[in-house]
Amino acid sequence: MTQVPAPYGVEGKVAIVTGGASGIGECCSRLLAERGATVVVADINLPRAEAVAKSIGGHAVRLDIVDDQHIAEEIADVEDSVGPLEIAVLSAGVAQTPTRTEDYLMSDWDRIVDIDFRGAYVSAAAIGNRMTGRGRGSLVLIGSTSGIRPVPLHAYGPAKAAVIAMTSNLAAEWGRSGVRVNCVSPGYTLTPMLQGMIDRGERDPHILENDSALGRLVLGEEIAQAVAFLSSSEADAITGINLPVDAGWLATTSWHTYGGLPAAR
Ligand SMILES: NC(=O)c1ccc[n+]([C@@H]2O[C@H](COP(=O)([O-])OP(=O)(O)OC[C@H]3O[C@@H](n4cnc5c(N)ncnc54)[C@H](O)[C@@H]3O)[C@@H](O)[C@H]2O)c1
Repeated sequence: MTQVPAPYGVEGKVAIVTGGASGIGECCSRLLAERGATVVVADINLPRAEAVAKSIGGHAVRLDIVDDQHIAEEIADVEDSVGPLEIAVLSAGVAQTPTRTEDYLMSDWDRIVDIDFRGAYVSAAAIGNRMTGRGRGSLVLIGSTSGIRPVPLHAYGPAKAAVIAMTSNLAAEWGRSGVRVNCVSPGYTLTPMLQGMIDRGERDPHILENDSALGRLVLGEEIAQAVAFLSSSEADAITGINLPVDAGWLATTSWHTYGGLPAAR
């Protein structure tokens, strides 16, 4: 008997994934392609984007989300060569080292806010404003649990809080034009970004694991599952939300005040 593939609601659609060359973006690129989308891997790191695109039968483009002068042209070129975008996942971003205010250089603050907040807005606007013209599309931004709870990351945390706020603003503006906008906020997710911070001694994996209800880190593939759902027609009535995927980190952080989590029964 012929195996009928499961309908995931992304088949035959053209998807772009910014930051698609590594980590969460790479997992999203792979899962969307596996589920039948034509994926454009867009990243500042073109060789890596090309390698990922080749392995999934997709397309690669060099895209710098900070470059608002050229991003509209680049998105237009992608649509001319691949087809109209129906799905966008905005995963490009950089992390921050925890730094006290008196030591924190404004040049570092500007760089983080420029990429993680301004860059997310610039790319959402460049893609979303083309989708509204066609009356259909879905964007998923990547926030962070650091944008929901206080953390000693004075640029990254507020930048991600801004991404979450921007999600509902854009959802309201574009909803009548058939474009949905949602956000997935990862908790501590084992990607090259987090691995780099662990290797540099900036994050302790045991503390990160212990601070979550499930007692573990999140996998990039698990973020991609949530992103693929929100990108699909299965989520056609969902817009303007922020969905944390954090192994229960948000649920447990205040339990320290009461002596921590109970051990497994
Ligand atoms: N890993 C985590 O624990 C975690 C937790 C919460 C949120 N996030 C967010 O998830 C997203 C992806 O993070 P990741 O862990 O996969 O990191 P990663 O470093 O593995 O991947 C990030 C990708 O973004 C690209 N990029 C960076 N600056 C860019 C720019 N200006 N233009 C285009 N591409 C650019 C990089 O080249 C890289 O391929 C980020 O927005 C990050 O803030 C990650």
